[in-house]
Amino acid sequence: MSASHFVIDAADLAGKFEREAFAVRHRLTDHPLLQLPRLIELGRVLPESSVEYNLADLPLEQDYLATPRNGLTIDQTMRQIEDCKSWMVLKNVERDPSYKALLDECLEEIAPHVRRMSPQLEQREAFVFVSSPEAVTPYHCDPEHNFLLQIRGDKLMTIFDRRDPRAISERQMEDMASGAHRNLPFTDDMAPLGRPFSMSPGDGVHVPMYCPHWVRVGQAVSISLSVTFRSQVSVRRDAALRVNARLRKLGINPVPPTESPWRDQVKHAVDRALSRMERAAK
Ligand SMILES: [Fe+2]
Repeated sequence: MSASHFVIDAADLAGKFEREAFAVRHRLTDHPLLQLPRLIELGRVLPESSVEYNLADLPLEQDYLATPRNGLTIDQTMRQIEDCKSWMVLKNVERDPSYKALLDECLEEIAPHVRRMSPQLEQREAFVFVSSPEAVTPYHCDPEHNFLLQIRGDKLMTIFDRRDPRAISERQMEDMASGAHRNLPFTDDMAPLGRPFSMSPGDGVHVPMYCPHWVRVGQAVSISLSVTFRSQVSVRRDAALRVNARLRKLGINPVPPTESPWRDQVKHAVDRALSRMERAAK
């Protein structure tokens, strides 16, 4: 039995989870799996497709396909992270049984507090971000329930409300649920709409699904762990968004997810039927 990883604030988790971003605290700073030498070993054994990395001197709006590479290998990037001005993410580190155990330990601590919204914590995934000083992650959003935990160095994460159409439109969320890349357009006038979370080791933040955010690392190398999962809530929202994307193509202005539970239920059934048909056609 491991010591608890989170400093749980039951009221925050029960009241704010998946509704708004909120700060959390954790005790993983010195965890052996999250130190750079161990992560360098992990980078060597993960499949190449599970490591995404690029130069990190980026504007807040970045076309994904035009993201500049750093000309180094995964191993070189990790070893030179202090100086190579790069950003990297080790994806699905739960492929390694030790990291899978750590992910499960973290989520089992969260689970009792979010069961009202999310009876099952499904499709559990963990990501480790290793970034050079001052690295920027451009404006984007992600489809998972996410807890981002700062392990080493400082990070400023600015999070926007998915309910604010100036930050992200329904159409953009529909595109993303249908397979579009996570990066989003950003203009300077959007800056005041974001809520900044300044994180040092031991700090973390909950990012609700589809809440856009951008990140700037402080003056030192940064390591962060992201523990994520899906739920009945996220599966339904994604299904409604995908069906809404199709309705929009037919000229219909669809009702956004969560506004009408019966519509969401019908859309979930339609989405399942469509994906079964697509699989059969393949
Ligand atoms: Fe993200």
